[in-house]
Amino acid sequence: PNLYQPQRPNSMGRDLTDPMALQALWSAREAFASKTWGATSLLANKSEGGATQSLFNPATPTQPIGHVIWATQTDVAQAAQAAKPWSVPAAERAKILSKAADLYEENAAELFAILAREAGKTLIDCEAELREAVDFLRYYAAQAEQDGDSAPRGTVLCISPWNFPAAIFTGQIAAALATGNAVLAKPAEQTPITGWFCATLMQRAGVPATAFQVLQGKGADIGAALSALPTLNATCFTGSTATAQTINRAMAQHAPADAPLIAETGGLNAMIVDSSALPEQVVRDVLASAFQSAGQRCSALRCLYIQEDIAAEIKTMLFGAMDLLEVGDPWAKSCDIGPIIDTTAQKKITDYVAKSKILKAISAPQSGCFVGPVALEVTGIADLKEEVFGPVLHIATYQADALPKVISDINATGYGLTFGMHSRIDSRVETAVQGVQAGNIYINRNQIGAIVGSQPFGGTGLSGTGPKAGGPNYLNRFRATPALLDLD
Ligand code: NAD
Ligand code: ALA
Repeated sequence: PNLYQPQRPNSMGRDLTDPMALQALWSAREAFASKTWGATSLLANKSEGGATQSLFNPATPTQPIGHVIWATQTDVAQAAQAAKPWSVPAAERAKILSKAADLYEENAAELFAILAREAGKTLIDCEAELREAVDFLRYYAAQAEQDGDSAPRGTVLCISPWNFPAAIFTGQIAAALATGNAVLAKPAEQTPITGWFCATLMQRAGVPATAFQVLQGKGADIGAALSALPTLNATCFTGSTATAQTINRAMAQHAPADAPLIAETGGLNAMIVDSSALPEQVVRDVLASAFQSAGQRCSALRCLYIQEDIAAEIKTMLFGAMDLLEVGDPWAKSCDIGPIIDTTAQKKITDYVAKSKILKAISAPQSGCFVGPVALEVTGIADLKEEVFGPVLHIATYQADALPKVISDINATGYGLTFGMHSRIDSRVETAVQGVQAGNIYINRNQIGAIVGSQPFGGTGLSGTGPKAGGPNYLNRFRATPALLDLD
């Protein structure tokens, strides 16, 4: 067998440049324009059920989109007790997870409506999110089936972020279930409807309630209670580096000594553009890397280094292209950049920008959680003290002979998630590729949107523990004993 690529196709999605396909999608999504959703926990036993909270659209905060009923501490304890590993053959689990992938595709229009309303996702982002979720389901299902039966760890806690509320939520759970574990999953508190909707599709496909339970709650409350359970055999976490460290401490105190924390965390991602780069291509790839998804991607470009010789030209072209970006409600066909997830995140970004040297700023609607794309001047990546999770691009210039210093400054941040380089000189590309410590390195293209199976995703240092998600060795971390040699 091909250990790197189990036999399954990646999702082809829809061709959004085809007007007929686009129109069909818009019409299907329109059917959910005024629907509201009620998100709950999904437990093996009846939920005690805590407080109910109304949920609103970050693009139009006066528009209700539904509500969530939070889980309680009693729910956490009962879910832990009821959790049972999914003890059917690997091939049977694979069949059910593949069926879940089909259900995701069949329910794309409603999922897109939820993603737009709850997470502010544009159509391009919805499409990418669905494809990644479906790819994770099929990839891990096929990998588990190919590897055959193996012993699971036991109970796996999955904690996911709001910025990929379908794809990462699904990917973590699919990996843990494909390997036969019992899963306790907590969606991010900002996106409980997406988590609930995806979980109901997995249940409809046939995943049993004792093997897969969902607990809705805030990080400091339900997240903390879950990560302090003494019965956890592993935790799979994606989110900020600070939260990963908190969970690590909780597990060190409460979980069995051999229970791993698989953490995928933040980044301070750089791109280097040298004087041989093609300016038009650079502009297109910088726009996508820094501003797509309103910069709310762990992989997003935060610090662009441009070689002094072409800096003026690139900046002029980039700022001209920024002028064309439309910021607004992602329900609108013309929207390029949707909202920031909530007012707390919006204020954090605007306060940061207000204290910075602005080179170029695009205006955004006043009502709603919007921040217009902005370019800031810095002397280098060392000026960035933390990950600013929004459409904020820092720009520095460098002299050709300073390339080694730029590389060592990038490494000195301690993060190592994505890195991009635009250059047509092989020796310079080689210097950067050999020198920069980053999990995912992209040459002469944008640096977001890793593809499951083809581009396993994950960082080093403060950016994560590995193994890479969507790669051949990921499932091994969810097993009591590895099924394959280390391929990462
Ligand atoms: P976050 O760390 O605030 O929250 C992530 C999850 O952890 C949420 O479900 C939250 O409820 C939970 N949580 C918070 N405090 C907790 C606690 N004390 N105990 C247990 N759980 C707790 O992150 P976020 O704001 O939701 O997401 C953005 C961050 O995620 C960014 O730093 C981004 O770079 C990172 N991210 C990384 C990747 C990756 O693959 N490396 C992908 C997406 C996002
Ligand atoms: N996997 C996502 C990306 O590559 C986070 O952008």
